[in-house]
Amino acid sequence: MPQLVFATQNEHKTEEIRAALSGQYEILNLNDLDFSGEIEETEHTFAGNASLKSKFVADNFKLDCFADDSGLELLALNGAPGVLSSRYAGTGNSEDNMDLLLKNLEEKTDRSARFKTVISLLHNGENHLFEGIINGTIRTEKAGRKGFGYDAIFQPDGYDITFAEMTMEEKNKISHRALALKKMIDFLKQKR
Ligand code: IMP
Repeated sequence: MPQLVFATQNEHKTEEIRAALSGQYEILNLNDLDFSGEIEETEHTFAGNASLKSKFVADNFKLDCFADDSGLELLALNGAPGVLSSRYAGTGNSEDNMDLLLKNLEEKTDRSARFKTVISLLHNGENHLFEGIINGTIRTEKAGRKGFGYDAIFQPDGYDITFAEMTMEEKNKISHRALALKKMIDFLKQKR
């Protein structure tokens, strides 16, 4: 079976993709490669950061590889927090990130937002990009305790609950990450 590396240390994300591609690809992650360092995300776009991570693995381990990068974008804030989503408030704490975003939106009428994921797949030396987007709005207060990141203030269009009030199964059916992953999986299935 061909091997494919997922440039992540997150076992949960790895299990999801292993299940989706079982029998077709052996999925390894950075832990399987005994890589415990950090790949710095120095680019200004999701595609740039995802490509930087997949290239790092391909260069260092000579294996086909994919990497993802995600974040939240607001038109009213010129695309912020964007690639800085995890570091928005500078503390590395999700509660602080959400509090800062709510504060920065106080004077704004447009609260529309979108989560975006870009996956870079380096396959046979070529970089293929897959994008997933989910549109929604930012609530004025947090609601729900599930999920992570900005989930408690993001309400996807067509729903009256936030991501943090959904079960993981519900969120995984519609999320930006799930959409991008599905596109990559469809591509890989065609290749086999
Ligand atoms: P990553 O590239 O998937 O690690 O995402 C970067 C950051 O974007 C996370 O640390 C979160 O702050 C935010 N983010 C990405 N996806 C989600 C999501 O599904 N829910 C909430 N926050 C997210």
